[in-house]
Amino acid sequence: MNIRFAPTRSLSGTIAPPPDKSISHRAGLLGAMSSEPVRIANYLEAADTHSTLQAVRSLGALVEGNGGEIVIRGTGLREAREPDEPIDVGNAGTLLRLLPGWLAAQQGRTFTLDGDASIRRRPVDRIALPLRAMGARLEATAGSFAPLRIHGERLVAVDHDLDVASAQVKSCLLFAALTADGTTTVTEPSRSRDHTERMLLRAGVEIARDGDCVSAANVDELALDSVAVPADPSSAAFLVAAGVLVPGSRLLLSDVGVNWTRSGFLRIVRRMRGIVLGDLEEPSDELVPWEPTSDLDVAYGALEGTVVEPEEVPLAIDELPLVALLGCFAEGETLVTGAQELRVKESDRIAGVVEGLRGLGAEIEATADGFAVRGTGGLRGGEIDSRGDHRLAMMGAVAGLASREGVEVIGMDAATISYPGFVADLRGLGAGV
Ligand code: S3P
Repeated sequence: MNIRFAPTRSLSGTIAPPPDKSISHRAGLLGAMSSEPVRIANYLEAADTHSTLQAVRSLGALVEGNGGEIVIRGTGLREAREPDEPIDVGNAGTLLRLLPGWLAAQQGRTFTLDGDASIRRRPVDRIALPLRAMGARLEATAGSFAPLRIHGERLVAVDHDLDVASAQVKSCLLFAALTADGTTTVTEPSRSRDHTERMLLRAGVEIARDGDCVSAANVDELALDSVAVPADPSSAAFLVAAGVLVPGSRLLLSDVGVNWTRSGFLRIVRRMRGIVLGDLEEPSDELVPWEPTSDLDVAYGALEGTVVEPEEVPLAIDELPLVALLGCFAEGETLVTGAQELRVKESDRIAGVVEGLRGLGAEIEATADGFAVRGTGGLRGGEIDSRGDHRLAMMGAVAGLASREGVEVIGMDAATISYPGFVADLRGLGAGV
């Protein structure tokens, strides 16, 4: 589906962005691992998180309700059922990387994970290697890709150093730690999102953080009674960018997750002199069992270029395409460094951003580990291909609203992966769609 986004005079209104995708995936999976029912308020209804519910159903969990609240009646930590068919993770990289941490310990049972064409290009050796060190048996296609076969074994704890900060790999290993003999420690080169740690703490797991190291011990069962999912800061980021870029705009976004390991983009926008008021969580080493939220008050204003440093990248990884877009409108240069991981997201996001924005009139170059944008005060407009990637589709839409001539997004339906109501929400705020 192709949609044209016209230059828009101003956006205004109050809106609740959709529920958090990362937290919904984790709540769905931990619900399935629990022996007692887990109530999840505000579970995300989108294609990726639907894949998680389908996966846990095929493993023997029951899922009741939809929309506002679901209840998962899980199988217990060690009792996942062997499904008759391969598990289809769809487009969900998070599901592909997290689920094996649980399944690797289901002794005597075999599971196959597969997904769409994009999933088959996303490396799984980053989880397969450390899981093997824990005693797991996994076979990846061509060594690194889905379909991925997992044969359940008894696991033992390991100390693992991540090469790249990745919440997906860390979470996979923390899931495996729940059944492994001993205490598992994962060390990250810099901090990545910590929703798994917070939820495990809430579920009664002995989990501790010491700087960039996190350790978790095994448990007999999880004690997670309920999870309330806040609005997704990564989805809210598209509205923030629209509010900052479309002249005269003023948007109020309610109850957005402001966990500091997810608010990197908001800090970058503020550094670029964008107007985003809200109560962001302060960075801390303390592990807490809750997810802080805040309303965000966003207004149009002039921007300045900035440099995004490598240690900021994991804290804003999914929002970096928007940093490039803001850079097109800012004064001076905007540089994103240390972001080579963007090459292995739902699409090659360095290529998608650079070629996509250049096609709209941007002065942008790919670098070895990110991109460099020279701000020219705006964008002409034109056509952009989403490459089937939800975040590129939504970046193109925002570009269109702020552009001089409008933007046609090829493959706008990709937004259903994380934000099915995106186009309707933009219309409600006054966008020319
Ligand atoms: C996610 C972690 C990030 C992010 C992805 C969601 C998660 O991936 O890009 O969209 O929910 O853990 P990496 O851990 O591979 O950086």
